Amino acid sequence: MTVHNQTRHWQELDAAHHIHPFSDTAALNKEGVRVITSAKGVWLTDSEGKRLIDGMAGLWCVQLGYGNEELAEAGYKALRELPYYNSFFKTTTPPTIELAAKLAEVLPEGMSRVLFANSGSEANDTALKLIRYYWNLKGKPQKKIHLSREMAYHGVTMAAASLSGLTPMHPQWDLPLPGFEKVPTCYWYGAKAAGYGDIGEDEFGELIAAKLEERILEIGADRIASFSAEPIHGAGGLIFPPRTYWAAVQKVCRKYDILLHADEVITGFGRTGKWFGSHTYGIQPDILTMAKGLSSGYQPISAVALGPRVGDAIAHANEEMVHGYTYSGHPVACAVALKNLEIMQREKIVERVGDDIGPYFQAKFREVLGDHPLVGEVRGVGLLCALELVDDKAERRFFPEVGDVGTICRNHCFREGLVMRAIRDTMVCSPPLTITRDEVDQLVALAKRCFDLTARDLGRL
Ligand SMILES: Cc1ncc(COP(=O)(O)O)c(C=O)c1O
Repeated sequence: MTVHNQTRHWQELDAAHHIHPFSDTAALNKEGVRVITSAKGVWLTDSEGKRLIDGMAGLWCVQLGYGNEELAEAGYKALRELPYYNSFFKTTTPPTIELAAKLAEVLPEGMSRVLFANSGSEANDTALKLIRYYWNLKGKPQKKIHLSREMAYHGVTMAAASLSGLTPMHPQWDLPLPGFEKVPTCYWYGAKAAGYGDIGEDEFGELIAAKLEERILEIGADRIASFSAEPIHGAGGLIFPPRTYWAAVQKVCRKYDILLHADEVITGFGRTGKWFGSHTYGIQPDILTMAKGLSSGYQPISAVALGPRVGDAIAHANEEMVHGYTYSGHPVACAVALKNLEIMQREKIVERVGDDIGPYFQAKFREVLGDHPLVGEVRGVGLLCALELVDDKAERRFFPEVGDVGTICRNHCFREGLVMRAIRDTMVCSPPLTITRDEVDQLVALAKRCFDLTARDLGRL
């Protein structure tokens, strides 16, 4: 079979039998799926032999890049030794224990206990259950409302989607469930368009924290269980908090005795140049969820870390905690995640993102695209970068048909061999943490080419 016929065959089978996540099935089936067949480092190869540089590390997860032999061997060894056993029957496995202990080393101080799950959504679902359980144990069962932010993305289970603040996630499923309330978020670049005028960034951070407090007072603090937030909004458009925001938010949560849940599914494991976004922004969460980079995406695994408050309450409850998954602490996934963390420590990957490749990546994007006619703002930290494509830079005015220009740009990127994601009209980039300076140069040069092609399509260049 020729390469092209093989691709066609896969596309036909895919169209007939496979429903894709977050996709318009009819449109995708008509267009034909792209089949990724192999990858090495930061480079993907598709079934037609085309190479693409992966500016998204898969779905923000392949921290160590593709084709890491040590991770593959750790998985193979674990599969041969003990492919499965559970942690239900007063039992567990060595990789499960060792990974839990290793996480306690790298997590924010005091977070010494973890529960395992298999995805970010499951981790968040579990976190919400534990928050409810905590308040029930403490004799405050009326504290049941979960606060989270507009534009937040926390996953897709019934509860995680309810916690999410991206409104298109709700109507198809009759969500949110009762008991989930939203508060405004700290999207400073969009503040003018949202009617806040020419407010300064620091002042805006404080204002949005004050809006959280207002909402708490409206609902009644005695009814509120938790506030959940990503240290940096990821899928909502890579929105970075103003410097004042997190300190002010934490003050409010403490004042009203509301548990703080940090969703670090994207911001964990070196992405921001520290182990966790909580380290970057001085956040001390009561509960922290992680997934993706925990195993560099080589195995599906996630975890919920508990600070002393919730951790001690469960540890001293003296009753069965009625929760857990068949694959909680799966030995193969844990062995791969453990090896992933060992490599990150040995190779000083987090320090490299913080001190070397992260600043280089940030500077390069600003140098090459900061003055581009379509780019209203370049923002980022570590190996996370967002570029706002706007209609009017001086006025910070967005394009009238939100998302169209982002889609044009994203399509140019794919055609030119670069994976960048478009969120509305914001282009985002989050490459493997192992990317080299030379690869950053190639990535940014390709991005420039695609931004130019987009500007030409719009008659702006
Ligand atoms: C912040 C955040 N939380 C939760 C999730 C959901 O994770 P999963 O897709 O593994 O369920 C994601 C996925 O992108 C995420 O970015």
